[in-house]
Amino acid sequence: MKGKFITFEGTDGSGKTSVIKKIIEELTLEGYKVVSTREPGGVKISEEIRDIIHDVKNTEMDPICEAYLYAASRRQHLIEKVKPLLDDGYIVLCDRYLDSSLAYQGYARNIGVDKVLEINNFAIDGFYPDLTIYLDVRPEIGIKRIYEHTQTHELNRMDKESLDFHNRVYEGYKIVSNMFKDRIRIINGENDAVTVYKDALKEIKEIL
Ligand code: TYD
Repeated sequence: MKGKFITFEGTDGSGKTSVIKKIIEELTLEGYKVVSTREPGGVKISEEIRDIIHDVKNTEMDPICEAYLYAASRRQHLIEKVKPLLDDGYIVLCDRYLDSSLAYQGYARNIGVDKVLEINNFAIDGFYPDLTIYLDVRPEIGIKRIYEHTQTHELNRMDKESLDFHNRVYEGYKIVSNMFKDRIRIINGENDAVTVYKDALKEIKEIL
């Protein structure tokens, strides 16, 4: 692999998308080959899986089914898009990856972090990111941001979960950050946007 695989994680409304946008702009200006993508989605099959998972009508979805769908979407996206870009020397910035499943399905949905890690290890075949930026934002603040931006962000099945669920996701991320200390960098996402972006960029520069 010639490129770098960098993932962004955080609770809903933690600001990943805006940070990624600014980082792309800056790294492109500096002459790096850089692209961004997102999970679940990023390629046709994965986007179709995303639609099934996020459909607000699918309230009867079983948590293990949900975990498998995210893992399936991840697999397709990795093989079809991420790996070829890395082979081509790109820095790939990915909005969510494995750790989302560990925090949301493994911990918050109570399937078990280890069980969800097992499913995902099968799907990604040991393909871990070079670096993960975790934007630490308390759920009550993230949810508030989402509801302030409902004109640009359509609420999906996960957004509509209770605050209690999002608090469990937040707890889940703490556990996951401890499990993968070497790879995950924690950034205070409650700071102003410029500080958050600069802090994230500093971590990224260290591995480039
Ligand atoms: P999205 O609209 O992309 O939200 P965000 O901008 O916060 O990433 O929806 C992604 C949702 O899917 C989000 O609520 C987290 C959830 N999710 C999981 O539960 N498990 C996963 O493995 C992934 C990738 C996402």
